[in-house]
Amino acid sequence: MSGDRFDVAVVGAGAAGMMAAAVAAQRGLRVVLIDHAARLAEKIRISGGGRCNFTNLGASPAQFLSRNPDFCRSALRAYGPGDFLDLLRAHRVSWHEKHRGQLFCDDSSESIIQVLRRECEAGGVRWRMPCAVRAVGREADGFRLDTDAGPIHAARLVLATGGMAIPQLGATDFSLRIARQFGLKIVEPRPALVPLIFDADQWRPYGALAGVSLEVRLSHEAAVIDGGGKRSRRPARAEFLEDLLFTHRGLSGPGILQLSSYWRAGDPIRIDLSPGRDMAEVLVTAKPGNRQTVAAALAQVWPRRLAEAWLGAAGAACKGARADDLANPGGSVADDLRGLGGLRLADAPDRRLRALAEHIHGWMLCPTGTAGYKKAEVMSGGVDTDELDQRSLESRRCPGLHVIGEAVDVTGWLGGYNFQWAWSSGVACGRALAAAG
Ligand code: FDA
Repeated sequence: MSGDRFDVAVVGAGAAGMMAAAVAAQRGLRVVLIDHAARLAEKIRISGGGRCNFTNLGASPAQFLSRNPDFCRSALRAYGPGDFLDLLRAHRVSWHEKHRGQLFCDDSSESIIQVLRRECEAGGVRWRMPCAVRAVGREADGFRLDTDAGPIHAARLVLATGGMAIPQLGATDFSLRIARQFGLKIVEPRPALVPLIFDADQWRPYGALAGVSLEVRLSHEAAVIDGGGKRSRRPARAEFLEDLLFTHRGLSGPGILQLSSYWRAGDPIRIDLSPGRDMAEVLVTAKPGNRQTVAAALAQVWPRRLAEAWLGAAGAACKGARADDLANPGGSVADDLRGLGGLRLADAPDRRLRALAEHIHGWMLCPTGTAGYKKAEVMSGGVDTDELDQRSLESRRCPGLHVIGEAVDVTGWLGGYNFQWAWSSGVACGRALAAAG
């Protein structure tokens, strides 16, 4: 038989692939790590604004989306944030906590890449990079990979090529294609942690707000297709108190990215633009004898640009817009808001101020889509967890085939959870490979 022989071939030298390769190789297996990219681990490099938000201290199954939300439990328990911190300490990499348990490198993401590279070297992992895999086939004693560097034979194969987000960095659907080839079911992949966009006409009035950011409470009510094909409305399953960013095409910022992972076409989203403050009370209490305009009064609690532009835009956009239909089937929101910003607070009827407050606390919108894989941080969906053993990440249907990292239908919230899943699933797989010999 021609070609190199290995115990394990890992395709994808990213976060999960390097971790699995290092763990298996350090336990004595002959491992080859194959990646088509010219530069190692580009997603780690660009992550967290160049400082890599490499884990979250609060990581638990509650921050992951999956058809089986419990699937990630065992890998997270076996290798959690504390274990990764031990690894960084051993390599003298320092870090800091930024926000809600999110940990970032003090220095740069490059230090995480070097930790993983050194761990691979410590185990004697062989590299094939850049090297494309043209085809994968089953053999009596494992798998055959036809690569640019010639055929490779391996007793076990690990699919670790991640998701399809940022194709401009070389992201592909390789793991999903090969998983399908071996009969594994796939949960439909889609962009997640991604900006939401709106119909150009509907959004035009808000275009002037591009760049404005503020803390809001976001929620969405899922209107999803059930297994039986029936459309059903479920109570809001996701709510986040996070920053919102207006863009030229729609909405972004951490809050929207979080919500986008739950959002499906047709789902309305609800935004409380002044969480924790009763705007009806603020406006009505401030009203007596107040000569400032309603917009000026709003500017005391909001960024000035938002106060000036949103009120006018909301009045205009409500007219006949789907948002208006959702918020107010009677269509009176537009009438209540039109011209209100320029009125003196003292002259504004209480009824219109209360309607404004209601709109501020429950701004309903219907995005037309997401900004797609080019702007997404991750792919949600992927290889169905029903197909995999949660301790080894090995296929039940195709023994010897493992799938790890983002290619699996386990998607973390924004905030370091996706890397934690990459580390945890990589270690679980690496240990299982070693145990299997
Ligand atoms: P990963 O993408 O890391 O690695 C896959 C590897 O497979 C790559 O090296 C790729 O070249 C290779 N590959 C792909 N197709 C191939 C093929 N056909 N043949 C051979 N090789 C192939 N998460 C987080 O927790 N904190 C953060 O701060 C960020 N920040 C962030 C910013 C941006 C801009 C993005 C796009 C993503 C993030 N993420 C993140 C998400 C995080 O980067 C992601 O979830 C993990 O890198 C997934 O790890 P994997 O190992 O599964 O794939």
